[in-house]
Amino acid sequence: MDAAMVDRLAAGEGWALLQSLPPYDESSALQLQDKLREAFDPELVAAAMAQSRLRARARDKFGDFAAGMLFTPDGLEQATRLSLAARHAHRFAAAGVREAYDLGCGIGSDAMAFAGLDLLVRAVDSDPTTARVAAANLRHWPGARVTCARADEVRLPLGEATRHLGVWLDPARRVSGVADIRGRAKRVFSLDAISPSWDEVQQFAAQAPAAGAKLSPAFPHAALPPGAEAQWSSWNGEVLECAVWWGAVVTQPGRTAAVCSADATHVITEAEAAPARETPALPSLTSLHEWLYEPDRAVIRAGLTPALVAAVDGAELGAGVGYVTSPAAYDIPWARRYRVLEAMPLSPKALSRWLRDHGHDRVTIKKRGVTLDADLLRRQLKMTGRGKGGSEATLVLTRVAGHQVALVVTPG
Ligand SMILES: C[S@@+](CC[C@H](N)C(=O)[O-])C[C@H]1O[C@@H](n2cnc3c(N)ncnc32)[C@H](O)[C@@H]1O
Repeated sequence: MDAAMVDRLAAGEGWALLQSLPPYDESSALQLQDKLREAFDPELVAAAMAQSRLRARARDKFGDFAAGMLFTPDGLEQATRLSLAARHAHRFAAAGVREAYDLGCGIGSDAMAFAGLDLLVRAVDSDPTTARVAAANLRHWPGARVTCARADEVRLPLGEATRHLGVWLDPARRVSGVADIRGRAKRVFSLDAISPSWDEVQQFAAQAPAAGAKLSPAFPHAALPPGAEAQWSSWNGEVLECAVWWGAVVTQPGRTAAVCSADATHVITEAEAAPARETPALPSLTSLHEWLYEPDRAVIRAGLTPALVAAVDGAELGAGVGYVTSPAAYDIPWARRYRVLEAMPLSPKALSRWLRDHGHDRVTIKKRGVTLDADLLRRQLKMTGRGKGGSEATLVLTRVAGHQVALVVTPG
């Protein structure tokens, strides 16, 4: 889809056609497309059907808003989930930002959230089609301006005009035109490969009293600029981003984790981790306690597992593995708790015997800190689950005191 087609879809006959389409159904899409071609320009019909399909996919990120938005396939994939975009916007609004420059705005998810909190949006994207899509999505906010330009062509306001200025960058982490094995634009994880570049991001951040950038969850801790905050955010257990914040929008300098779901958000900080920073990892498997805790992945990515160690007065199984043991059962909303039923050095033979003796014929394998192939182990354990009427066991494969261990656990 090119920019001209976006404009056709965003108004008049194109918009009316798009809004008249029934909820997308793959099984009847071809038939519907053929029928529509009898009355409309086939190119417009194809573009409208493609939008309808994207809108159906977009419901997961945008809910009911998807039905009034336009997308590009890459733009949808890279767009911030609306609930996290709202968190970005709240940071800016709480810091007194009134005008937000979104440099690399994509289809405009973050920009919509900024505009929704009454920030004056200045959105820029280097891709003409994407910029037109963002303009269509921001149509409800007449003050919002969308320009097709490269970030380095943008001149931020100077002097007094910067007082309420916020800058937001969500650099592209996809290689345009290069597909991964699922046919989606290939992702890049290195800070060197993002666009706008990490240098540009930091230069823009230095020009505004408040700035933020959405980066990969693989953001290296050592790259965090002094005084800035890096917040790793998860949604329903999946780590979606590491946002770096500068200036007035920093709430806690250093690393933080935000564990988010529709029900609640929990923020974990370095201050909570500090009391357990020096707590040694478990010295041996015999010191393992009854309860095993697994923090949300955002907490692990942020390097804040010691906050869990402190919260449950426990010990991490191995340095950096992210599993914590404690003799007591605590309810920690950002961690899962398991009861340990058995713990042994990792030996497929011994493990297989134990599982058989306890009537298990299927296993769920969780592993961290070990490199072994879970499918190979499943075969070695002969846990096929075929017709024996046995039950399923949950195995945690990890490291204690440098040795590979297997724990049999049950959610507790
Ligand atoms: C990750 S997407 C932004 C997603 C957006 N935050 C959202 O939630 O919809 C990054 C965007 O940056 C644009 N981009 C890449 N390099 C750019 C540059 N140097 N200047 C301006 N835009 C750029 C890409 O075209 C892409 O649309």
